[in-house]
Amino acid sequence: MAATAAATSDPEPTSDDANAVAAAAVIAAAAAAATAAAATGQAAVHQAVANMRLNYTYGELNEEDLASQPIDQFDRWFREAVAANVHEPNGMTLATVSATGRPSSRVVLLKGYGVDGFQFFTNHGSHKGSDMVQNKHVALSFWWGPMDRQVRIEGVVERLSEEESTAYFQSRPRGSQIGAHASLQSQVIPDRKALELRTEAAAGRFKDAEVIEKPANWGGYLVRPTVIEFWQGRPSRLHDRLRYRLLPGLTADGLQSWQVERLCP
Ligand SMILES: Cc1cc2nc3c(=O)[nH]c(=O)nc-3n(C[C@H](O)[C@H](O)[C@H](O)COP(=O)(O)O)c2cc1C
Repeated sequence: MAATAAATSDPEPTSDDANAVAAAAVIAAAAAAATAAAATGQAAVHQAVANMRLNYTYGELNEEDLASQPIDQFDRWFREAVAANVHEPNGMTLATVSATGRPSSRVVLLKGYGVDGFQFFTNHGSHKGSDMVQNKHVALSFWWGPMDRQVRIEGVVERLSEEESTAYFQSRPRGSQIGAHASLQSQVIPDRKALELRTEAAAGRFKDAEVIEKPANWGGYLVRPTVIEFWQGRPSRLHDRLRYRLLPGLTADGLQSWQVERLCP
């Protein structure tokens, strides 16, 4: 587009001045053409994005299909996501809220789940770590695209014991252990080199160590759920949403008591 404008509006040179004026005109025309092309391109991208949608047909979720305990339902869906080769099925978005009410979210890896809740590991001094000191209410969400499924969890977070954190840290690859020592997670650094120098220094410190100790500012968290929603995409946006809400008290079998409700999509 710009090349065409340049070719058709390039006049015969008459003098250096005229040449300069002509060149400026050519550049201006080319710039205008490029701006117009970018605007057209941007509009086309915008339209293409607006048109992106899938019709969800994988399956349905009915009340009678649900496990009585939500963690069993989660286990069922998680195993199905693993079996379906979902990419990193244990990747989950963790949302935290600061003391001043500002939310932030990021992906972390689920590292364990059970009747108590959902576990992950991170740096206590990170943005999320500092949020979780101030505000224990967090949310998790999983999205398993190939199955048109989402799981949304709300709950209260607590730190795992040092023993549990150490046990998991010791199971990590050595490179990740050194990385945890090198990274001041969420802090501003001047450049990549600074991180590499910190990593080299940490590798040097532990070069003769058979066991790399867990950094004091790194460890695990447990999210004890109070709400778990299972979302199954359905055609025409008429999705199935079944939500378990924790009730006070236990069932006759000594299990957690949950109220199941269906929500509008
Ligand atoms: C797939 C994936 C998995 C991740 N897993 C973790 C994790 O388990 N723990 C962690 O601290 N950060 C993990 N991260 C990095 C976080 O998303 C985030 O960048 C980091 O924890 C800093 O977040 P913060 O500054 O909000 O505290 C992961 C990122 C991705 C994309």
